[in-house]
Amino acid sequence: MPKSGASPVTTQSQPNDLDAFWMPFTANRAFKKTPRIVARSKDMHYYTNDGRAIMDTTAGLWCCNAGHNRDPIVAAIQAQAETLDYAPPFQFAHPLGFQLASRIAQMAPGDLDHVFFVNSGSEAVDTALKMALGYWHAKGESNRFRMIGRERGYHGIGFGGISVGGISPNRKAYAMALLPGTDHLPHTYDRAKQAFTKGEPEYGEHFADALEGIVALHDASTIAAVIVEPMAGSTGVLPTPKGYLKRLRQICDKYGILLIFDEVITGFGRLGTSFAAERYGVIPDMITFAKGVTSGTVPMGGVIARKHIHEAFMKGPEHMAEFFHGYTYSAHPLACAAGIATLDLYRDEDLFARTKQLEPKWADAIMTLKGLPNVLDIRTVGLTAAVDLASIPDAYGKRAFDGMHKAFEDFGFMVRNTGDTLALTPPLIISEAEIDETVDKMTKLIKAIA
Ligand SMILES: Cc1ncc(COP(=O)(O)O)c(C=O)c1O
Repeated sequence: MPKSGASPVTTQSQPNDLDAFWMPFTANRAFKKTPRIVARSKDMHYYTNDGRAIMDTTAGLWCCNAGHNRDPIVAAIQAQAETLDYAPPFQFAHPLGFQLASRIAQMAPGDLDHVFFVNSGSEAVDTALKMALGYWHAKGESNRFRMIGRERGYHGIGFGGISVGGISPNRKAYAMALLPGTDHLPHTYDRAKQAFTKGEPEYGEHFADALEGIVALHDASTIAAVIVEPMAGSTGVLPTPKGYLKRLRQICDKYGILLIFDEVITGFGRLGTSFAAERYGVIPDMITFAKGVTSGTVPMGGVIARKHIHEAFMKGPEHMAEFFHGYTYSAHPLACAAGIATLDLYRDEDLFARTKQLEPKWADAIMTLKGLPNVLDIRTVGLTAAVDLASIPDAYGKRAFDGMHKAFEDFGFMVRNTGDTLALTPPLIISEAEIDETVDKMTKLIKAIA
């Protein structure tokens, strides 16, 4: 019996009751007055129920790197659903989990050889943090319990992720429940010295030295790990300064601290390499990934651990689990099938090399927005960009929020708003003509919200 008052959904693509769905990270009341709903997708575009094309210049939520509804990925998911819908990942397995793990390990640099599957970026982060603590426990150094994140960092929304994360609205309501023993590096952005930089800024390597201060305060013997995004995405695209990540690695090595790269956005081609670790020539102890691994088609994430991390766990009675951690849907067959087909497609279309090749064209095109009304800074790296806009007095975030809405309603494209920043992260299949189209749409949009 339906509850009284709840009206049924009439068609798959046109809901008539918007009330029950409490939407994540969404201004629910505003959305439900003027909803933005997409009904289908193909390649670079979404389509609304009435057939309006919306150019996807955000790769969904920075995840659909191969574009939408790609035939080989769709076929792989369909075939897998017919063959094996689910297999328990605790004490049992299916072949695709091993195949995908090997493929990911091959793509990762150095001896990042072991893959632990989860279902999202948030789970990947919490898993990596627990792996770091478990590692030190196994090494007999349980005193190393502190975890160091960075201001403006985004590591998902688990309690671990928000504790090492550095975005205040995500933390302040839960301040009493954050993990004890966390601390934060300063963020790496200084507009006065870095504005309108393409790629990694020249200025700012020294921000890594703040780790020395944190070590001096807490003592290295209490610090388990440092976690950073190689490019801080959700806060509004902050590429790390030249040399910064190498310096961070050196300081971690000096004190035996583990280094975790959160590559949930930067993994799988976003910066023109399989992982940002490769672009920056730095091998962290763990990499977290999600999003692009299945090009957003089926939820999946994971942690790639170096050999020494994995080895530290592989002891004790052989009938006992070595890591008391895992999810019902770890290595879900549909996600694994989607992942393998996605990696095949990235390889067959050479999409990461293509991204590297397109990066200068993308950066030059986006920088032409400089000089438009309210534009305070523009940053680009890989196939990613952000435009900071001056806020409307007493209405922080309103200009970019209006921009996101108008882009969808009036200009037929998707852009992500974060604070008063508009961020762009197109699928890696974007054509040069579509880059020009994006810039043209952005130009009109920025003028319209001036
Ligand atoms: C760097 C980073 N880590 C973690 C996450 C959380 O991922 P999810 O939303 O899949 O939990 C995100 C999401 O954008 C992210 O950008």
